[in-house]
Amino acid sequence: MSKKNKSGGRESNTRDLDYVMGSRFEERTGLEQKWITQGEWEKYMENKHNVKLFTPNSFTKEWTKELKKTFESGQLAQSGKVDEFETEFGNKFGYPYTIAVNSGTASLELAYHLAGIKKGDKVLTTVLTCTATNLPLVHIGADIQFIDIDETLTMDYLDLLKRVDKDTKAIVVVNLGGLQCDSRIFALAEDMDIPVIVDACQSLGIPEPNGDYVCYSFQAIKHFTTGDGGMLVVRKEEDYLRGRKLRWFGIDRDRRQRLNFDFTPSNREMCMNMDEPGWKLHMNDIQATMGLVGLRHSDGCLEHRRLLGKAYKVGLKGKVNYVLGGSHWLMAVMLENRDLGVMDKIKQGGIDCDLVHLRNDIFTPFGSKRQELPKMAWVEKRYMYVPMHINMKEVDVAYVSIVVLEEIK
Ligand SMILES: Cc1ncc(COP(=O)(O)O)c(C=O)c1O
Repeated sequence: MSKKNKSGGRESNTRDLDYVMGSRFEERTGLEQKWITQGEWEKYMENKHNVKLFTPNSFTKEWTKELKKTFESGQLAQSGKVDEFETEFGNKFGYPYTIAVNSGTASLELAYHLAGIKKGDKVLTTVLTCTATNLPLVHIGADIQFIDIDETLTMDYLDLLKRVDKDTKAIVVVNLGGLQCDSRIFALAEDMDIPVIVDACQSLGIPEPNGDYVCYSFQAIKHFTTGDGGMLVVRKEEDYLRGRKLRWFGIDRDRRQRLNFDFTPSNREMCMNMDEPGWKLHMNDIQATMGLVGLRHSDGCLEHRRLLGKAYKVGLKGKVNYVLGGSHWLMAVMLENRDLGVMDKIKQGGIDCDLVHLRNDIFTPFGSKRQELPKMAWVEKRYMYVPMHINMKEVDVAYVSIVVLEEIK
C-alpha cells in the first residue's frame, strides 16, 4: 500500500457531519420552528399522502436528448462517453484515477481484487450495510470479521482497534446513509499499512481524502443514476492501469488504440492478449451518457437533501434520536417503541418506512449467527428509516415529522 497520496484526517477526528444523536438541533441549526406557511400546510393536508422512502433522481428530458446523440453515434459499448464521464467525475470530486464500471458491486469486487484479498485472508468489515458490500468477500473465501457500529451507524473505531492486528489484510468501511467514517480508522490503517476500501455507494461529494479504494454506485435510487453503474476510485497509478484492464477481460484497450486498431494477424494477438484474466465489469456509453447528465445536477441534488435534513431537524423538535449527515442519503430515526406497531401506523399515514439494511451477520452466506456487537444490538431494536429523497419537499418532511412524533408519544 502506498503511503503517498494520503492526506488529512490524522490531526483531528472532527467529521464534517451535521448528524445529531440527541436533542441539540436548534442550537446547531439556528433554524426557526416554523418554515412552512399555514396556507401551504392546509393545502397539503387536503390530499391523501404517499411519501415514498426512495424515488429515482430522473432527468427524463435531458437524458432523452443526450441519449439520442449517443444512439446516433453508433457507440453503445464502452467508448468516448465513458472516458468523458470518468474525467468529469474525477474533476468534480478531485480524483485523479477513476474507473467506471457497471455497478457499485462491481467496483467493490474490483477493489477487493486490486487490494490483493485472497481466500482465507482476514478482512475487518462493517456489520450494518447492504449485503453487496460483503458478498464479494464471500466469493473470494475471505475470513470476514464483522466490526461494530458507532453512533453514526458507520464502523466503530474503538471496536476496530480491539480487533485489528498484523494479520489483517484489509479494512472495509461504509459511508452508510451518506455519512463519512471516523477518520481515526484511516490513520490507524495507514500506520499499520493495511489497505482501506471505502464503500461510498450511498455517498457523494463528502470529504473523502482517505481510503485506498473508494467505490461509488449509480444504481436507480442513488444520488444520481445511470440505471445501474459504479465508479472505482484508486490512488495509485499501478492500480489504475491494472483496474482498467481487469474491468474488460484483462485486455489493454489502450494498447489497441495505440496500435490504431490494426487487427492484422500479428497485431491481433498483441491486441487481445492479457497479463491476467479479467472480468466484464465495464460501464457502457449509454450509462455514461446518463451519468454525465446526473453529474451536472449533483450539486443541486446535494443541496436539496441538505435542506431536507435541516427541515427534519426542525420537524422532529429534538424529541427523536436520529442519524443524518454527510450527503444525506438516508434518514434514520431511533424509536424505543418501534416494534410495538409504530411502523404499521406510520405506513397507515401514507409514509413509507423500512429498516433498509439488516446486520449482515444474520444472513446465511455470513454464517447466520449474531456476533457479539453491543452497539449493533442496541441499534437493531430501534432503528428505522423514513423518507429522504430528491422529490420530497419540506412540507413532506413536516408531515413525516408530525406523524413520527405522534407515534412515539
Ligand atoms: C452500501 C452499498 N454498497 C453497495 C451497494 C451496491 O451497489 P450496486 O447496486 O450499484 O451494485 C449498495 C446499493 O445498491 C449500497 O447501498
